[in-house]
Amino acid sequence: MKIRAIDAFQIYDSRGNPTIEAVVTLDSGVCGHGLVPSGASTGRNEALELRDGDPDRFGGRSVFRAIENVRREIAPALSGHDVTDQPSLDRRLMDLDGTQNKSRLGANAILAVSMAAARAAAAGMEKSLFNYLGNGRGTVLPLPEIQLFGGGRHANGRVDVQDFMIVAVGAETYEQSLEMTFDVFHAAGELLKKWGKLSGVADEGGYWPAFESNEEAIEAAIGAIVAAGYEPGREVALSLDIAASELYRDGQYRFGVEGRSFSSESFAELLSSWVDRYPIISIEDPMAEEDWEGWALVRKLFGDRVQLIGDDLFTTNLQRIQKGVELGVANAVLIKLNQIGTVTETLEAIQATQRAGWLPVISARSGETEDTFIAHLAVATNAGQLKVGSFCRGERTAKWNELLRIQRELGSRAQFSGGRIYGQILKTPKLKV
Ligand code: PGA
Ligand code: ZN
Repeated sequence: MKIRAIDAFQIYDSRGNPTIEAVVTLDSGVCGHGLVPSGASTGRNEALELRDGDPDRFGGRSVFRAIENVRREIAPALSGHDVTDQPSLDRRLMDLDGTQNKSRLGANAILAVSMAAARAAAAGMEKSLFNYLGNGRGTVLPLPEIQLFGGGRHANGRVDVQDFMIVAVGAETYEQSLEMTFDVFHAAGELLKKWGKLSGVADEGGYWPAFESNEEAIEAAIGAIVAAGYEPGREVALSLDIAASELYRDGQYRFGVEGRSFSSESFAELLSSWVDRYPIISIEDPMAEEDWEGWALVRKLFGDRVQLIGDDLFTTNLQRIQKGVELGVANAVLIKLNQIGTVTETLEAIQATQRAGWLPVISARSGETEDTFIAHLAVATNAGQLKVGSFCRGERTAKWNELLRIQRELGSRAQFSGGRIYGQILKTPKLKV
């Protein structure tokens, strides 16, 4: 199955910012589309998102240069290429770019084509994307990590912690996990209204609460779980993305809303006290991306009891994941396609994570599109967990809903491990799930 044409054009993400959509057309006329998301609290080692920087258009955020790179360089280079050989196609894209971080052609240009090619190949073979990507071996529906409250850079710093999420660890099926999430999500909205603390919706669709402290947000989330009739920890647990790189300046972690600063050690101890006091099952980026010692400390303090996910720390980068595994600083890796820039490298990062006995968590970005690629990626790789932001807004529900379609297609082959998945990485799970 050969590539006949590749084109790209500018579309808009869920924050209303420009991004790229690419279309790969095969000789048969079958085509596939790839839409690229965009982060806000980005890691320093991410592949480069190429923007025009022209102050007179789109505030510098247009992606016309990246689109030109697709049309002028990528399209001719991949014309006639076998679309079903994703590794060689992605290798060609990397070689053509020639830089470590895809800064010449732009990771957004490269990823759009890489995703569109996978879609075209799947369509050409008349397979669903998850079946194509997973060679028919993907059968596990992921446990959703769903945002209740947004903070940090996604909510103008109203609270410091970026994501206050829930995980329906007691759910027996994917559908039940959504029903439990529905209950807690709407209970949280009611509580915030009652308290007069609702000040809008954050970037990923979670409530944007006017809390006075980070712990107040944690306690409100627990209140919502209880109000919805669930037992915190056993049925619905908490998950936090501290996004600590955003809080880290000159060796100190700063909670702006509380006017407090912490050394690396005292910040690790604060988080450890949260793990002791609250029904937390997972913490992402507890420490900053350059604070490897801080990471080693949190791993020692509570890495046997809760999932420790590296996002900015690893940036879906194989070398960084391998370093993390060697140093033993985490036990899970957040996986974002556009942090690394090709489908093949993303699959390699997931496989390396799984080989190390760690868990991959497939993730959306704060600036998302209606593309459902990551829902398929999660099932294709049997990753077992998916983080897409909240339980509302179309760019988020597109993914949750796509999994319902995938579930129908899998029929009796569909599997769901729910909260039992944490047993793979935790010696002494804090929460009995
Ligand atoms: P981002 O946030 O897409 O803005 O990087 C998501 C996350 O930190 O997990
Ligand atoms: Zn994160």
